[in-house]
Amino acid sequence: MVEVTFAACSSHAPHILSRRIQSSEEYRKQVERVHRTLEELGKELRKKNVDTLIVIGGDHYETFFFDNFPMLNVYVDNRAFARVQNEELPYEIDVEMAKELLFGLAKEDFDISFSQGPFRLSHAVVSPTYWMFKSHRVPIVPIHMNTNIEPMISPQRAFRFGETLTRVLQRIPLKKNIGILGTGGLSHFPGTPYYGKVDVEFDKRFLSLLEEGRTDEIYKLSAEELEESGNIELRAWMSIVGAVKRRARTLLFEPTYHIDYAIVNFEL
Ligand SMILES: [Fe+2]
Repeated sequence: MVEVTFAACSSHAPHILSRRIQSSEEYRKQVERVHRTLEELGKELRKKNVDTLIVIGGDHYETFFFDNFPMLNVYVDNRAFARVQNEELPYEIDVEMAKELLFGLAKEDFDISFSQGPFRLSHAVVSPTYWMFKSHRVPIVPIHMNTNIEPMISPQRAFRFGETLTRVLQRIPLKKNIGILGTGGLSHFPGTPYYGKVDVEFDKRFLSLLEEGRTDEIYKLSAEELEESGNIELRAWMSIVGAVKRRARTLLFEPTYHIDYAIVNFEL
């Protein structure tokens, strides 16, 4: 039987992987607090006996490009790697679990595409896991969800994707403990004229919805609300809320000059 024993969400900005933060001493310390929190979160993987971590986040042209940019994709091969500061790091994939999810989701009307062959993981996967895996590595299943490029998955479908994922997991005839991680956000406007604007009030409200377990209100968040608050990537977080429907504890909320960093861990 498959059991979900760990669920969390985290920012994934590429700065989390950068060795040289030059904007200010204060910002460097803020990013270091993100690193430490992710390292602490990673220790939970061992405590919760997680065998495989499913990571849901949106690629930003590192894995896919306009020749074929999927709405949803699961990688079902074992040739994935990350590129961190010009170094290639291999990532172990739980191919058996990835295939179970591919076939199970398709049966549930989620027509997820799949990839094989050499596969560069996006920073949506690597930024948080690079730090979470410092003390304990586990195989992953990377799921790309289009949270960034129009037309994106709708927030409600992202939520229902999480619900469906849980249903599919419950039917998989393997004895494994699963962790799920959603990545992105919070408020930021990269690659737009609004870069540097951050909607701290929206993010505080969103985190309190998570803490209070107000799942129905999270489900109703519209594409417009996410767009206006710089939170298009919350779709990945909404998929985790849909999957577990539990309260989450905020481990870090760090407003900075260009993004609100946040990390939450769900009470399972
Ligand atoms: Fe992003």
